[in-house]
Amino acid sequence: MNTIHDIDVNGKRVFIRADLNVPLDENKMITDPLRIKEFLPTAKLILEKGGIPIIASHLGRPGGKRDEAYSLKPVAEALKKELNCDVVLAPDCIGGEVEQLAKGLKPGQVLLLENLRFHKGESENDPAFANALASLADVYVNDAFGTAHRAHASIVGVPQKLSNHVPGLLMQKELDYYKKALLEPERPLCVVIGGAKVSSKLGVLQQLCAKADKVIIGGAMANTFLAAQGLQMGRSLFEQPLFRQAIEITGHIARRGAQLYLPVDLVVAPSLKSQGLARNVTTQEVPADCMALDIGPATRILFQEALQNAATIVWNGPMGAFEYEEFAAGTESMVEAIGGALGLTVVGGGDTDAAIHKLELAHKFDYISTGGGAFLALIEGQKLPALEALGISLQ
Ligand code: 3PG
Repeated sequence: MNTIHDIDVNGKRVFIRADLNVPLDENKMITDPLRIKEFLPTAKLILEKGGIPIIASHLGRPGGKRDEAYSLKPVAEALKKELNCDVVLAPDCIGGEVEQLAKGLKPGQVLLLENLRFHKGESENDPAFANALASLADVYVNDAFGTAHRAHASIVGVPQKLSNHVPGLLMQKELDYYKKALLEPERPLCVVIGGAKVSSKLGVLQQLCAKADKVIIGGAMANTFLAAQGLQMGRSLFEQPLFRQAIEITGHIARRGAQLYLPVDLVVAPSLKSQGLARNVTTQEVPADCMALDIGPATRILFQEALQNAATIVWNGPMGAFEYEEFAAGTESMVEAIGGALGLTVVGGGDTDAAIHKLELAHKFDYISTGGGAFLALIEGQKLPALEALGISLQ
């Protein structure tokens, strides 16, 4: 696979598709800069090699029309500070004014295009829109792992026009960790899956259950497995239509001689907002008027013990409703246990990343993916449009 190291970018305009879709608070302050920080090595390397970066990203889902609430202005400010150079925020991502700005760039300057999703052409992969983007540059670099599962114009259309196309350093790093953790893992491989619904991660569960030596399931998705075994789950969230799949997955793990760990106790309450009414119960004793909102203290110990000898741990999804203090202990105990593990630890983004950052323990993990949906799509074995466009095969 060709990389940035193999191509000559000196004096050339380099279109870099990044995923700078960072969370912002109500004051437009960036609350988690992970995606910006992880993108910096690519931008710096291109600058060092004398290239002129033209960076493109989306932010949120403005629905194909201009909406200042989704401007990349806060990202431009952050890039200016981090790259310590002149970062110009273009008024748009295509059009005459942007072309002039791109042509006028000098080595050492960076152009950040305004939100790609201000145009419908981006998500529709419109050829005219892709042409307009491609006309800004000579070389294409895709570093947007977080958007690798979207067949959008900047992901698949532009590299069709710019034949000189390579993955960025972050894209390579994401794929390297995926390979190390899931394609050629050191064993025992332990996967920890949480989150609300089995239905949203069914393909992921099926893939992981075929590979892992130990599968730990927490969060509301464990309720479906427990209910499928005949346990009464009270008012807990579970998915009856998926009982058959839950039983099949359980059987598949057992037939492979692998281990499945489900909660043995739970923190339950009448509702998410029933402050002070949370209590611990065994999974056999969930009251009819309560719902499971976190794993209980015995489960925390069980899961920690199960992780003890893992050589590789892959984690995606919280163990409970960790945004609420009363139901955060399960997820926090996993942050500590996995963060303190000796094996390789790889975490899929989104909520899991938020829980780790809340405890300021990101440095304890080998790798936190910048992808949420893209990370899951990769695990599920989907063909990612970004990789296909770059001619990368993982097999
Ligand atoms: C993400 O945050 O998962 C990526 O930036 C992709 O965003 P999307 O789900 O809006 O396409």
